[in-house]
Amino acid sequence: MDKMLLEIENLVVKYGGLPVLQGVCLAVKTGETVCVLGSNGAGKSTLLRAVMGSQRATAGKIIFEEEEIQGSRTEYIVRKGIVYVPEGKMLFGPLPVEENLLLGAYILRDEKAVARNLEFVYGLFPRLLERRNQPASTLSGGEQQMVAIGRGLMSNPRLLMLDEPSLGLAPLLVDEVLSTVHSLKRQGMTILLVEQSVREALDLADRGYVLQTGRITGQGTGSELLQSDIFRSAFLGI
Ligand SMILES: Nc1ncnc2c1ncn2[C@@H]1O[C@H](COP(=O)(O)OP(=O)(O)OP(=O)(O)O)[C@@H](O)[C@H]1O
Ligand SMILES: [Mg+2]
Repeated sequence: MDKMLLEIENLVVKYGGLPVLQGVCLAVKTGETVCVLGSNGAGKSTLLRAVMGSQRATAGKIIFEEEEIQGSRTEYIVRKGIVYVPEGKMLFGPLPVEENLLLGAYILRDEKAVARNLEFVYGLFPRLLERRNQPASTLSGGEQQMVAIGRGLMSNPRLLMLDEPSLGLAPLLVDEVLSTVHSLKRQGMTILLVEQSVREALDLADRGYVLQTGRITGQGTGSELLQSDIFRSAFLGI
């Protein structure tokens, strides 16, 4: 339980010379659910893209299972077992639900493993089984988010990174999506979650980090963060 899975050390990312991440340090242990909280433009998505290798880091280290992966290609990082479910779902709308899910298994050669993972995803989201032959674009927002998460799970990742899975959803669907994240957590999945639904994310996560304009300004368990001054002024307006 306390083995480090992901360690980020003094990560710096710049866009056109402008620093967006200014020395971020963060760690996720195997089996943990960790959330990163921050307002619009704080650098949350940039952080996840840097881990995926789709955004180049200027300085710092990203260590996954004791191997430095900063500078590695995204395909290599995916094969190492990190999956990124981006903001805004990015589904192939005209394709049926099941085809969208299968796209997430492209790194697997073993058909039995693909079938097993598909069964796991349908077990987690029974509604997707009912709608497997329906174009993804015809699903509700919450269901499309389930497809996006399900697609990420199809490669059986060691670390699942979710970028604002509740974004743009009605409150009822927010609960539904986050409760599936909760059941993944219970099944032992290691999760790095970026969220703006602060309370919900803290209820779910073992620990959280506060990211403000590219810097970690606070960290701790949910109750520690809810009581800290920096957190209360940043998110609760107190
Ligand atoms: N490709 C890019 N080129 C230039 N600037 C960028 C690029 N991507 C992001 N930025 C800028 O970097 C900052 C951080 O962006 P990022 O998307 O990481 O924020 P975020 O915390 O995910 O915000 P949100 O909650 O709105 O998704 C923003 O000011 C954004 O405008
Ligand atoms: Mg973002």
